[in-house]
Amino acid sequence: MTRVAITGARGRMGNLILEEIKNAPDIELVAAFDIVGLGQKVMGDVLLSDAGDLKKVLQETRPDVMIDFTVASAATDNICTAAEVGVSLVVGTTGFSPEQTTRIHRAIEDGQVAAVISPNFSVGVNVFWKLVEAAAMALREYDVEVIEAHHNKKRDAPSGTAVKTVEILRESMGLDRVVHGREGLAVRTKEIGVHAVRAGDIVGDHTVLFAGPGERLEIKHQAHSRAAFASGAVRAAGWVAGVKPGIYSMADVLAGVDPSV
Ligand SMILES: NC(=O)c1ccc[n+]([C@@H]2O[C@H](COP(=O)([O-])OP(=O)(O)OC[C@H]3O[C@@H](n4cnc5c(N)ncnc54)[C@H](O)[C@@H]3O)[C@@H](O)[C@H]2O)c1
Repeated sequence: MTRVAITGARGRMGNLILEEIKNAPDIELVAAFDIVGLGQKVMGDVLLSDAGDLKKVLQETRPDVMIDFTVASAATDNICTAAEVGVSLVVGTTGFSPEQTTRIHRAIEDGQVAAVISPNFSVGVNVFWKLVEAAAMALREYDVEVIEAHHNKKRDAPSGTAVKTVEILRESMGLDRVVHGREGLAVRTKEIGVHAVRAGDIVGDHTVLFAGPGERLEIKHQAHSRAAFASGAVRAAGWVAGVKPGIYSMADVLAGVDPSV
């Protein structure tokens, strides 16, 4: 049985992850945190704790893994605290600055814990990234654009999934220049164009468009529901509890890599 804590338990993703945990026979919720709805029961006897008491409650409840879906600034502090007290991690939060990423990686290394960090926990997006990489290697001379669309409450842009997609394209196509949106007069150079749409309740769409002489190829993923992310995050929590310290991706979880000690 894997003992799990969750931060951001009252959020869109947090609520769905609680549902997934309820239905997972090998996962037990031992603590839940947020900054709203404090004192409510979230599951069985588990009360919603104040994120300000994170260290104390983690030490009392001794989870194996903490799942964080909050906001980048809060997540950075939450992750550092969990790593310091020896709790492994599943990090779904996106929008980290380079400085926050450095702090997180250092804390995970210093704490000697294991962490699965992914801007997207869906199986489909992890296949999408593989397809994008294969197409990019074969279409190095084509123009490439990344278009993503999300709901109007999403704070970070472009999405973490789009940022990772751009990294894959940069490496596979040898492109350095990234252009976010376009306005005014400019000639297209060797570059990756990135476009972020924010509207209504769109769960998450990502398209990579390759265009060359007389043709174009589009690779597209559309999430219909956040359940795809929640089930992946809970699967990652079960996996990360049994592996040696280090930073892993969702691709490692899906590949069934077994780096146990
Ligand atoms: N990796 C993925 O597969 C994936 C999928 C969807 C969303 N996300 C990311 O997950 C994050 C959360 O998304 P959401 O749609 O659930 O957002 P949300 O705004 O609905 O939920 C965030 C929750 O975090 C809480 N919170 C804020 N500060 C906190 C703190 N210090 N400690 C504990 N809780 C705190 C908020 O009160 C809120 O309940 C975002 O960064 C989003 O981009 C990732």
